Amino acid sequence: MRRIASLMATAAVAFATPAAAQDVINGAIRADQPGPVIARHIQGQFAEHLGRDIYDGIWVGPDSAIPNTRGIRSDVVEALKAIKVPVVRWPGGCFADIYNWRDGIGPAAKRPVRKNDWWGGLETNAFGTHEFFDFAEQINTDTYVAINMATATPAVMREWMDYLTSRGEDTLAQERRANGHAAPFKVDFVGIGNEAWGCGGAQTPEYFANEYRKFATFFHKNGATFHMHNDNSALRVASGPNNDDTKWMEVVLKNAGEQMDAISLHYYTVWHGDWAQRDSAMATGFPASHWNEILYQASRMEEILRGHEAVMDKVDPKKRIGLFVDEWGTWYRTEPGTEPGHLYQQNTLRDALVAGITLNIFHAHADRVRMANIAQAVNVLQAMLLTDGDKLAKTPTYYTFAMYTPFQDATFIPVNAPAPMLKAESGSFPAFTVSAAKAKDGKTYVAVANADKDKGYKLALDLGGLKGSKVSGQVLTAAKLDAHNTPGQKEEIAPAPFNGGRIGGGKLLLDIPAKSVVVVKIEG
Ligand code: AHR
Repeated sequence: MRRIASLMATAAVAFATPAAAQDVINGAIRADQPGPVIARHIQGQFAEHLGRDIYDGIWVGPDSAIPNTRGIRSDVVEALKAIKVPVVRWPGGCFADIYNWRDGIGPAAKRPVRKNDWWGGLETNAFGTHEFFDFAEQINTDTYVAINMATATPAVMREWMDYLTSRGEDTLAQERRANGHAAPFKVDFVGIGNEAWGCGGAQTPEYFANEYRKFATFFHKNGATFHMHNDNSALRVASGPNNDDTKWMEVVLKNAGEQMDAISLHYYTVWHGDWAQRDSAMATGFPASHWNEILYQASRMEEILRGHEAVMDKVDPKKRIGLFVDEWGTWYRTEPGTEPGHLYQQNTLRDALVAGITLNIFHAHADRVRMANIAQAVNVLQAMLLTDGDKLAKTPTYYTFAMYTPFQDATFIPVNAPAPMLKAESGSFPAFTVSAAKAKDGKTYVAVANADKDKGYKLALDLGGLKGSKVSGQVLTAAKLDAHNTPGQKEEIAPAPFNGGRIGGGKLLLDIPAKSVVVVKIEG
């Protein structure tokens, strides 16, 4: 309940005069009540063979004039390393269920070209297994491999896993070595099924649970029954529900929970929460009235997590099974003039707020939410990075992630900071959310996502026993609601030093501007 109080405040602010009542908020940082560790993996990324995410976005090929290391663009690697990407999910998404891993190994010239039936265009397979793990090593991240469950078999999965992880003298391990990788690849997580209720085969939860049990069995996880000396230590992630489909969660957990380490959830921010209306929301040039509705839809993540956690807590009270939100983010009308199936959209200050609001929610659910993967890393949906030839833009979402890196593996600290509610067409949501944590560097960090486009707030947060004399940090904001960055053009929006913080009278005082994301460090 504590976490809910900190995020979803309902009470009107009960102090000061009515005129000032909305802009001064008294609250408290409860460092005496530390919570769980906020898994670094909640800042995970997703890279799918979709549009220009892989090709152009990550892979340009070794012969490209664009600077690269073994075909992987150097600017993208540098930018992703800077935000300490903790995990990347690959190769899909829907694409995973039409992917044949064998197409993507061996000499590049001999790799088959396939139709990408989900997202259009041709898949050259130039970027396959070895290239993905090279990319992961270059950005120093954990790996999350989504296997093909819908159009392949457990035998195909087993062969890929042996190729990836076998330390033995078997033919698949030898084939990997012959293809240039002597050591096993480091597979940290494996996804079994993707949107099994939809693009992954339109399955019922009962049918999926049975199929999942079969695949999970033949995954041969090290340490599972009979398998004390296998090479597969990856955590197994079952395809979970869409949005608030708690029936899927319940049936799959009850029927297959024992064979999984985590279950996924997909929740996208779409106009009115309705896929049919998705194209009504534009990424840029939107009317001011669209601001609140999108941020309301993003803030629904809170209630959606709560619904699933209630089910999970019944079936798995010890919280062994993680909830991985392995697809989330905004999904707007694609940019005019681009291929609709490529899901290319711009990314504005509003998306930076979506990211801040969502990360704050994940922090408050850190006991169950142990991974999340924003969709997607480059050039697709709510991307970190946009490319145009050799040009690269860091999006406002990228900058939110950059500012939140101290929260990776930090210890959650509850904050009570009652926010007024803002109205949107479909509901209401807190004007701001606050999250705090003790980071691995021993310092306490406080993040504020202020969704109020019209008003700033002065927060006065009691520090309790928390010692500190100095506050420093960054703010991400802009004059325009749709401030965004374009490859090759001067940045419109980037973090700036935050000068609105100080400590006085045992309180952290923060002067938070309208429509901003602020992260501060308390020290001294
Ligand atoms: O992220 C784009 C697509 O959205 C993914 O491929 C799919 O899993 C989801 O429907």
